Amino acid sequence: MSSAIFLPEHLRRIQNETFVTQVEFHRELPSTNDRAVELIAEGRFSAPLLILAERQTAGRGRGGNRWWSGPGALTFSLVLDAGALRLSADRRPQISLTAGLGVCQALDEALPNHKFGLKWPNDVFLGARKVCGILVDVPSQKPECLIVGIGINVNNSFQDAPEELRPLATSLADTTGERFDPAEVLIRVLLELARSLELLLGEQSALRSAWMSRCILHGRTVHLQSGPRMTVGVCRGIDIDGALLLETDSGMERALGGVIARVE
Ligand code: BTN
Repeated sequence: MSSAIFLPEHLRRIQNETFVTQVEFHRELPSTNDRAVELIAEGRFSAPLLILAERQTAGRGRGGNRWWSGPGALTFSLVLDAGALRLSADRRPQISLTAGLGVCQALDEALPNHKFGLKWPNDVFLGARKVCGILVDVPSQKPECLIVGIGINVNNSFQDAPEELRPLATSLADTTGERFDPAEVLIRVLLELARSLELLLGEQSALRSAWMSRCILHGRTVHLQSGPRMTVGVCRGIDIDGALLLETDSGMERALGGVIARVE
C-alpha cells in the first residue's frame, strides 16, 4: 500500500513560502529532469519551476548513471532562467556546487548534530556517505535555462538498495533512526537554495569560502579521471570559479570537469 506524502497544502506552502512560482507534482515519473526538458521544449513553464515526484522510475545520475531512490527519497528538479536571474555565463558552471551548499545548509538545520560536506563537484555527504546527488542539465533548445535536479535520501532506507550502493550511501533516516517530514525538508532546501543563489549572484569570495569550509576532499589524495587522463594530487580545495585544486608532482592543477575515481 502506498499513501500520499505530498498533499495539496504542502504544494501551496511551497508556492507561498519559497521563491518557486510554479509547482508540478507527480506521484510517479521516470525522471524529473527529463520532465523539465519536455516542458522547456514545449515552452510550457514559468521559471522558477519546481517539478516534484514522490517516486522516480528512471532517475538519472551524472555520467549516464542511474539514480536509485527507494520510497521516501526526495526527488525534484528546479528550472531556473539564468537570463532572468542575470547569472552570467561564466558563473553558470558553479550552479551544482552552489546548490550543494544550499542542501548542506538546509540539512544542517534538520540535523544540527551531524556534519554535511560537499564532495566536488556535485555530491553532498553525511559523514563518509553520500546523502544527496545533484545533476544539472542545460537544455539544447533553451540554453539560458538551467535544470537543477536534486535527489536527497530522506526516509528511504539503503537496506532496500542494490547491494553495491549499500556501503556508499545513506539517508537521514538510516543515519538517525528517525523519520523526517519531506515537505519540511524540501521547503528548507528551497529557502537555502535561494540564499546560496544570492551568493552566486554576488561577491565571489564569500561563495568560495563557503565551498571551502564544506570541501570533504581537502588534504586528501584524489585520483581524477578526465577522458583518458588520470590526474593524481592532494586536494587543496576549490577555486573561486569552482575548479578543483590538485597539488600534483608537476605543480598545482585546476580541474573544471572529470570524475573522481579514487580518494585516499
Ligand atoms: C548524481 O549523483 O549522479 C546525480 C543524481 C541526481 C538525481 C536527481 S533526482 C531528481 C533529478 N531527476 C533525475 O533524473 N535526476 C535528478
